Amino acid sequence: LNNGLAQTPQMGWNSWNFFACDINETVIKETADALISTGLADLGYVYVNIDDCWSLPTRNSEGQLVPDPKTFPSGIKALADYIHGKGLKLGIYSDAGVFTCQVRPGSIYHESDDAKLFASWDLDYLKYDNCYNLGIPPKERYPPMREALNTTGRTIFYSICEWGVDDPALWAGKVGNSWRTTDDINDTWASMTTIADLNDKWASYAGPGGWNDPDMLEVGNGGMSYQEYRAHFSIWALMKAPLLIGCDVRNMTAETYEILSNEEVIAINQDSLGVQGRKVNVSGTDGVYQVWAGPLSGHRLAVALWNRGSTAKTITAKWEALGLQSSISVSVRDLWQHKLVKEDAVSSFGALVEAHDCHLYLFTPKTESLSTLAFA
Ligand code: DGJ
Repeated sequence: LNNGLAQTPQMGWNSWNFFACDINETVIKETADALISTGLADLGYVYVNIDDCWSLPTRNSEGQLVPDPKTFPSGIKALADYIHGKGLKLGIYSDAGVFTCQVRPGSIYHESDDAKLFASWDLDYLKYDNCYNLGIPPKERYPPMREALNTTGRTIFYSICEWGVDDPALWAGKVGNSWRTTDDINDTWASMTTIADLNDKWASYAGPGGWNDPDMLEVGNGGMSYQEYRAHFSIWALMKAPLLIGCDVRNMTAETYEILSNEEVIAINQDSLGVQGRKVNVSGTDGVYQVWAGPLSGHRLAVALWNRGSTAKTITAKWEALGLQSSISVSVRDLWQHKLVKEDAVSSFGALVEAHDCHLYLFTPKTESLSTLAFA
């Protein structure tokens, strides 16, 4: 969507994956405080996004949405002031149907009123869900909110949460700043890997202004190992996915923090070229040994070696799979070890990768005689 936002994938936090409906203004404020005190905000995590369950189950007599007075007694405008006072941005949630998924009022046929309300609260981001949609095609339900937001005069990030039902990559580029490509993620290896593969299919549709959204991060929620979360974060970064933290940032372990705060991995995600990396090679039974890669600014590449098998394995990226001429010499920096691991790699680079782990590398070619990446 050409509204000036999302030149790189959005970064921040969302309440749903950890808190679900158990949210209130204190949690949101404490989360904002924690983003600041941990330094995560300085690394780019600036959107603080309230998901479902913030509103009362019915509109007021004027037809307006009402924040639940038990959980958000100070109202959303006061919360926005607090968040803005910290230099952060506040996001909210509604639904392109008659109810949200948790049966709060949806915004279909109220787009203009609700967008005005959100703008009057100084909100910065709207996630727009797909429940109770009356069977009306999403292509008809999502543009009216884009128009309504645009008409407010406030620039509001528009996140389309249509779950990939009607191939949103094919139409949402002009409608929203990101669009979900899949059903909800859950905090398991099976869910995370499945979603990565589904999102990969739409790589060519992502770019500055609009991104494929394979759903929010589960890093830190406890259902995956350190290696699996590192893989999750590496691949989401390489796929130019939104980096929306989904854990309780007030209570992170050192490992969770190490993953989410890896500046070199974040830089891959936020690279100005804005090209979504892809799965470029698989080997082994069921293709469990995988190479994912994508171009970066300055003729550099991000390359991931991902072992989805159950034992350690040497995985090799061949230049031909990366679209590089085999004579090109590359310096290889490991973005989890934070060190240069090979000065002059030529024609291929391999490393031993533990089960379910993922190495992420920055490849810097020694010559500018490169053609751009040409994936098969
Ligand atoms: C479905 C969405 O896909 C989730 O991310 C979350 O917003 C829930 N609905 C909330 O009910």
